[in-house]
Amino acid sequence: MSDDHIDEESGIATTGHEWDGIRELDNPMPRWWLWVFYASIVWSIGYWVLMPAWPALPGMQGHTTGVVGNSERVNVAADLDALQSSRADSFAELESASGYDVIEADPVLFRFALAAGESAFGNFCATCHGAGAQGFVGYPNLNDDVWLWGGSFDAIRTTIRYGIRSDHPDTHFSQMPAFGADGLLSREDVRHVRDYVLSLSGNAGFEAAALNAGGEIFASQCATCHGDNGTGDVSQGAPDLTDAIWLYGGSAEQVEASIWRGPFGVMPAWEGRLDDPTITALATYVYSLGGGEIAPANNGAGGE
Ligand code: HEC
Ligand code: HEC
Repeated sequence: MSDDHIDEESGIATTGHEWDGIRELDNPMPRWWLWVFYASIVWSIGYWVLMPAWPALPGMQGHTTGVVGNSERVNVAADLDALQSSRADSFAELESASGYDVIEADPVLFRFALAAGESAFGNFCATCHGAGAQGFVGYPNLNDDVWLWGGSFDAIRTTIRYGIRSDHPDTHFSQMPAFGADGLLSREDVRHVRDYVLSLSGNAGFEAAALNAGGEIFASQCATCHGDNGTGDVSQGAPDLTDAIWLYGGSAEQVEASIWRGPFGVMPAWEGRLDDPTITALATYVYSLGGGEIAPANNGAGGE
C-alpha cells in the first residue's frame, strides 16, 4: 500500500496510505511553520551556549554553566541580599521613628514592625510571658490593659529597654517590704490587712473588726505605694489591688503570702542585648496586642 499515488481530484501526491479508500494528501508544511521550527533550533543552540543547559558529561562536574554565568543559586543569594538591605532600610526607619503614631501612620513600616516584634517576642520573651503573651503567675499578661509600669507605647519601650529590678542602672525599681518575713507585722495583722485588700476587689463576708484593723494598717503601711484607695501607682510598679486581677494570685492564701514575703518580680533589661530598632519593634508588637493604653493619664496599674 505504499506505492506512489497522485490524487486525481487535486493532482497532489498522497502519502501512499489508504484506509477504506480514503487517502492522505502529502502537502508540504506551511512555510511560516518551518521558519519557526528552524528559528527555535537556532535559539536553542544559542541558549546552550549562554545558559546552564546540559548535565555533566562523563568526567565533568555538575553541568555546563553557560558563558553568561547565570546561576539560580547566585540569583537567590542576590535576592536575599536585596531583602536584607530592604530590612536594613526598615530597621533604620524604626530607629528614627519618634513614636507609635509615626510607625502606625506608615502601613509598610507598621507591618514590618509587627512582624519583627512578633518574631523577637517568640525568641526572647515567650519563655517568661507565654507564646501569646498571656503570662503566668508572677509574669504579667501583656494582652490586657492592666499595666504595672504604664501601658503607653513609650512606657512599654522603656520597660523593655531597662527592665524591672534588673541590673541596668536605669531599671524600674521598687521594693515592697516583706511585712511578715521581716517581722514588720504579726501574722494576725497580715491577715487583717489581707482581708481588707480582698474586700477592695469586691470580696465580702469578712468580720467588721478585721476590716477596720486591716484598713488602718493599709492606710499607714500600704497606701504610700498602692494609693489611698488601693488603685496602685505605675511610677512604683505597685499593682492596683481593686481590679480583681492578680499577678501573684487572688486566693486568701496567695494574697497573704504576697503580703508576708513582699514580691520582687524581676524582668531583664534588653538594652545591649537587642538593638534599638528591635526594641522599638517589640514595643510596637506588645502595644498592639490590645492592651496598649491610649493615654497614659489613667494609670490603671494592676497585677497581671
Ligand atoms: C526572665 C523572664 C522574663 C523575660 C525573658 C521577659 N520578661 Fe517581661 N517581665 C517579666 C516579669 C517577672 C515582669 C513583671 C515584673 C514586675 O513584677 O514588676 C515583666 C514585665 C514586663 C512588662 C511590663 C508589664 C507591665 O504590666 O507593666 C513588659 C512590657 C514586658 N515584661 C515585656 C517583655 C518583653 C517584650 C520581653 C522580651 C524582650 C520580656 N518581657 C522578657 C519577666 C520576663
Ligand atoms: C514600697 C512600696 C510598697 C508598699 C509599702 C507595699 N507594697 Fe504591695 N506591692 C508593691 C509592689 C511594687 C508590688 C508588685 C511587686 C512585683 O511586681 O513583683 C506589690 C504587690 C503587692 C501584692 C500582690 C498583688 C498581685 O497582683 O498579686 C499585694 C497583695 C500587696 N502588694 C499588698 C500590699 C499590702 C497589704 C501592703 C501593706 C501592708 C503593701 N502591699 C505595701 C509595693 C508596695
